[in-house]
Amino acid sequence: MTRSKLSSGNDSGLDVPVIAIDGPGGSGKGTISIRLAKHLGWNFLDSGALYRLTALAVLKNQISLDNEAALGKTAAGLDIRFESTGSGVVARLDGEDVGDCLRLEKTGIIASRIAAIPVVRLALTGRQRHFRQAPGLVADGRDMGTVIFPDAILKIFLTASDECRARRRHKQLKEKGESVNLSRLFREIKARDSRDQSRDISPLRPAEDAVIIDSTDLNLEEVFSKIVKLV
Ligand code: DC
Repeated sequence: MTRSKLSSGNDSGLDVPVIAIDGPGGSGKGTISIRLAKHLGWNFLDSGALYRLTALAVLKNQISLDNEAALGKTAAGLDIRFESTGSGVVARLDGEDVGDCLRLEKTGIIASRIAAIPVVRLALTGRQRHFRQAPGLVADGRDMGTVIFPDAILKIFLTASDECRARRRHKQLKEKGESVNLSRLFREIKARDSRDQSRDISPLRPAEDAVIIDSTDLNLEEVFSKIVKLV
């Protein structure tokens, strides 16, 4: 699996197959998407990371969340890179490794807020489509199947109950060393989901032709094998 370089490759790439995996946070789509990309030897797009990197750039440059023009400009001018290392992927913003801040819940909340702003989404659309490079792309996000890659050959909408997703996120954050209170996280996740679902532009929802998988009572292996069968 490789993460495509943002600036290289064929812009159109419309003949390159895409598998879109969308869903709310904590549904397991990130882990499944990475695993599927590895399994197929395809590229991987973590579109949430682009929104999170934009959020970090906004914080770094102290841009007000009310200043839509400046937010759009920041998203359009992002200097970001993903580098594959032996142990994973390093995300760089302005050349600096931002791995520690990228996954913080606070970064996710700001990412969700700026993701509701049309100029920000527009600025990130082209960047996301640049990841479509041979031999194929597994794209993880909220609007991969509905907006960014509507011609994806397979669209999965992965979900799970609110409690289950909060528990999974809690475990993930704990493993990364972030100590968060489970009930607070539950509330934050619900607020983030409802913002992502109710925004006017590209809301989180399954594409009409998506296969919906509820992973509440399934483990990772079971979800993965269901998806591999569909592929
Ligand atoms: O998947 P994530 O938690 O890293 O995403 C962070 C936020 O970014 C999410 O709450 C909403 C936004 N996002 C989006 O609007 N569209 C995407 N395709 C991916 C993420």
